[in-house]
Amino acid sequence: MTDIDWSKGSWKSFPAMQQVDWPDKNHLRQVLQQITDLPPLVFAGEIRKLREFLSEATKGNAFLLQGGDCAEEFYECKAPTIRETMKVILQMAVVLTYAGEKPVIKVGRIAGQYAKPRSSPIESRDGVELPSFRGDMVNQSAFSEEARKPDCSRLLDGYFHAASSLNILRAFTRGGYASLDRVHSWNKEFVKQSKEGKSYEELAFQIEKALTFMKVIGLDTRKMPQLSEVNFYTSHEALLLGYESALTRQDSLTGKWYDCSAHMLWIGDRTRQVDGAHVEFLRGVHNPIGIKIGPNHDVDEIKRILDILNPENECGRIILITRFGKDKVDSVLPSLIRNVSDFGANVLWSCDPMHGNTYTSDSNYKTRNFNDILQEIRSFFEIHHAEGTVPGGVHFELTGKDVTECIGGAQEIKDHHLENNYATSCDPRLNAQQSLELAFLISDLLKR
Ligand code: PEP
Ligand code: CO
Repeated sequence: MTDIDWSKGSWKSFPAMQQVDWPDKNHLRQVLQQITDLPPLVFAGEIRKLREFLSEATKGNAFLLQGGDCAEEFYECKAPTIRETMKVILQMAVVLTYAGEKPVIKVGRIAGQYAKPRSSPIESRDGVELPSFRGDMVNQSAFSEEARKPDCSRLLDGYFHAASSLNILRAFTRGGYASLDRVHSWNKEFVKQSKEGKSYEELAFQIEKALTFMKVIGLDTRKMPQLSEVNFYTSHEALLLGYESALTRQDSLTGKWYDCSAHMLWIGDRTRQVDGAHVEFLRGVHNPIGIKIGPNHDVDEIKRILDILNPENECGRIILITRFGKDKVDSVLPSLIRNVSDFGANVLWSCDPMHGNTYTSDSNYKTRNFNDILQEIRSFFEIHHAEGTVPGGVHFELTGKDVTECIGGAQEIKDHHLENNYATSCDPRLNAQQSLELAFLISDLLKR
C-alpha cells in the first residue's frame, strides 16, 4: 500500500477497537474541529530527529529509555509532578549512559497519555456495575455513574493539559534545569538515603569531576548544548483516532504527514489488528511507531503489520515492544525474533516488563513484583544476545513519587505496604527508588 490511498480520515472505513461511544455527536464534531484548528503540539523536525536517534538504537549505537505513568491524570498536571517524573528518567538515563557508553534516548509516557484501552468495558465493585474508567480524556476515575459518563469536552481538556505539560518540559530541558552540571541535584531526598541513592551520588561525583576537568582546560561547558540541554521526547498510545487525526498535520518542508500530538506513538496490544483502523491511521503518519506485542500474537499478522507500517523498511520507524511476562518470555521471544529477523525487518527491540507481570495481590491491589520485572528484562537481554540481535530499549510505568504500588525492590515493599501510598488511576508504577535501582541493574546487563 502507498500513501496515495491514505488520508488522515481513511481509518474511518475500518473497524476501530476500543473507541468511545460519545453521547453527543454534534458536540464531538465541534470539539474535533477546534482541535484541528489549534496549533500542533510537537513539530515534524523534532519527530525526524527522534527517528534518527532511534535508527542508531536499532543498530546498537544508542539505547531507548521510555517511561511514565500508565495513565496520566489532569489533576497531576503540575510543575512538581512533571519535574519529578522527568528527573527520575534523567537519573536513570545518566546511569545507563555511563554504563552502556552510548547515548540514551529519553522518551516520556507524558503530555498526552490520557486514554486507556480496557480489557472490560464494565467495572463492578460490590455488586455495582459501571462503565470502566478509560482515561482522563474520556471520563473520570471516581466510581460513580456521573463520573464514568464519557464527555467529549475532555478531549479538548486533554489537548490543553498536554500543551501545558510540554511547555514546562521544554522549559526544564532547555532552561538549564536538565544541564549535566546539575546531575547531583536530580537526586531526591528520599532516594539519597538508600543504597541506590548513594551509588547515584558516586556516579554524579565522577561526572562532575569530568566536567570540572573540561572547564579547567578551558572548555566553556555552558556553551555546549550537549551538556546544558537534553532532548526529551513525548509519547502515548495512539488510541482515540478522532483526537489523533485532528492533530495530524502535513509538514510544509517535506509534504509528509505527522501526528503532532506526540513525537512517538504506540499501538496497543489490543488495537493492532492488521485490517483495523489503528493500523490504517498509523501507516500514513511518519512518526516512529511502537507496536506492543503480548504472548498471544500471531507472527504472520506481525509481519503483515510491519509491511503495512514500514513498507520501505526504514530504520528508526518501528519499535517492537514485547511484553510477555517473566513466565512466557523464554518460550515466546526467541521464535518472534527469528521470524522477524528472517523476514529482514529493521526494528528496534524494546522490553516492556510491566504489562505481562501484573497480578492481584492478597490484599486485592493490582500490583507487580520488582523481581518479576527484573527477570523479564534479564531474559530479554540474554535472548537477544543469544540470537545475535540488539536489546535496544526498555519501557516502564514509573513515577518520580514515593508511591507504594509495586512489590519488592531494596525498599522491600510488601503486600501490606501497598495501601500506604497506592495512587495510580490505572496500572501500578515503579516509584523513584525502584526505578533507579532497576537502572543500576540494567546497567550491569548493558556492560556485559
Ligand atoms: C499500556 O502500555 O498502558 C498498555 C495498555 O499496554 P498493552 O497495550 O501492551 O497492554
Ligand atoms: Co499500563
